[in-house]
Amino acid sequence: MTAPLERCSAWQRLVAQAAAPPPTMEALFAAESERFQRHSLALDDVLVDVSRHPVAEQTWTDLFQLASERDLSGAIERLFTGAIVNESEGRAALHTALREPPELAAQGAGIEVATAVQQQLERMASLVERLRSGQLHGYDGRPLQDVVNIGIGGSECGVTMAYEALAATVEQPLRLHTVAAVDGRELSAVWQQIDPATTLFVVASKSFTTQETLTNARTAWQWLEQAAGRPVPEQFVGVSADEQAMADFGIPEAQRLQIWDWVGGRYSLPSAVGFPVAATLGMAPFCELLRGMHAMDRHFRESPWANNIPVRLGLLGLWEFSLGGACGHAVLPYHPGLRRFPAYLQQLDMESLGKSVTQSGEAVTVPSGAILWGEVGGNAQHSFFQWLHQGTGRVIVELLAPVDEAECPEAHRGLTLANALGQAEALARGQRPDPAAPAAAHRHYTGNRPVTLVLFRRLDPYTLGQLIALHEHRVFVQAHLWGINPFDQWGVELGKQLAKGLVPLVRGEAALDTSSDPATRGVLTWVRAGMGE
Ligand code: F6P
Repeated sequence: MTAPLERCSAWQRLVAQAAAPPPTMEALFAAESERFQRHSLALDDVLVDVSRHPVAEQTWTDLFQLASERDLSGAIERLFTGAIVNESEGRAALHTALREPPELAAQGAGIEVATAVQQQLERMASLVERLRSGQLHGYDGRPLQDVVNIGIGGSECGVTMAYEALAATVEQPLRLHTVAAVDGRELSAVWQQIDPATTLFVVASKSFTTQETLTNARTAWQWLEQAAGRPVPEQFVGVSADEQAMADFGIPEAQRLQIWDWVGGRYSLPSAVGFPVAATLGMAPFCELLRGMHAMDRHFRESPWANNIPVRLGLLGLWEFSLGGACGHAVLPYHPGLRRFPAYLQQLDMESLGKSVTQSGEAVTVPSGAILWGEVGGNAQHSFFQWLHQGTGRVIVELLAPVDEAECPEAHRGLTLANALGQAEALARGQRPDPAAPAAAHRHYTGNRPVTLVLFRRLDPYTLGQLIALHEHRVFVQAHLWGINPFDQWGVELGKQLAKGLVPLVRGEAALDTSSDPATRGVLTWVRAGMGE
């Protein structure tokens, strides 16, 4: 048993340091000529620079000490070797096994898991091959050429994000459409863009009980049946941990892909949930994505704290959110392909860390998981950067930018990186105009805002895999230090249950009586009375 956070001696020293005014960026760089070298870490072509976090050397020493006192290495080993790290659901969290080369299985989750993973990958590869070589046909005999993913949350976010990030990097991607919302509007919009006879539908749901996904899947099934004049099971692939539910839905055995209870939804992109990405972009890019993830897994498992990128970022999260007064994490990719990356990280981070109790059910006594949001960096500069630079709130600002712009028109080259670097400098250094100058108070920038800069050569599958795994492990580190279970999500259940019960009332099929919530009753009474009429 490791000591809880508050009883660690390193934590007590950190609390004392946080009570003092933070060191200024000028003072930190003046005191350490090697500060950038010591606090910028590279893995392959990814460079993560945390030198612009206002964290003194002694604080770093105590943060590393805290990681050791909390037995972070033991926790990492338990994660990789399949221990029950998700205690409230009694499950392992073996997403790292999904990208582990088979020959390393003995050091990871074990042979049984590795064999199951390989079997599913082979199954996936064979379906992908048949689809991409034109051997999968629709009901009128033409080859399938559009893919529609029907899924939500972890069964959608990663797929959309990866496709948007990588479609431009491969030749002749098939078209991917994703449908998540329950209202049917998204589905109708997709229906306008596809030919039913040449479309493959992927129904992705770990539980195969999710209302949104099953409602959309049934509608798609009926539409296809109507268009073909007969049921068309051969145009459906299923991805789920519930084989029987896929069978009951009507998905043919050869088109059912399996995931397992030890793959969390928001960690499931490298499993068969990633099938639509492999199907539309090809198996080779998908395998590169897995290779990039595995490179980050190894780095995380093997590197000492000072060189360990996810550990460094996790420690900074703890320092800023628990002790530094930060309330959020802005993710700002300077690459339009990463448009959906903040939304992807939002689920990963906030569904994992948005908890007020520890694994053992005790109250979390320090501020923990924060708000994560973001936008493409250039767009955000003309929107909410004002708040980042001069607002009274404090957030970790993460800027991600590619260095290689060979594919960009010449007149555009260098502008992106210059903007990312300029913003990093402004946030960290600030500006103190002469008090006598006009509007001096308005042109004053406090600086000292915590900045993480992530540079990479280019956005390719390997790099994207590294970036995803980096954040998965960063979240794991924060969760472990706070004692939180990052792999359950009990907080999403209540609203879903209430919504189910409300359907007959909203549809006007049941009477509004006094047993219903007074505010809900008020709203529905207003709706039933014709609203503004
Ligand atoms: O409601 C939240 C959630 O359970 C997520 O954790 C999950 O990724 C999503 O719903 C979809 O679940 P499923 O894959 O079981 O349909």
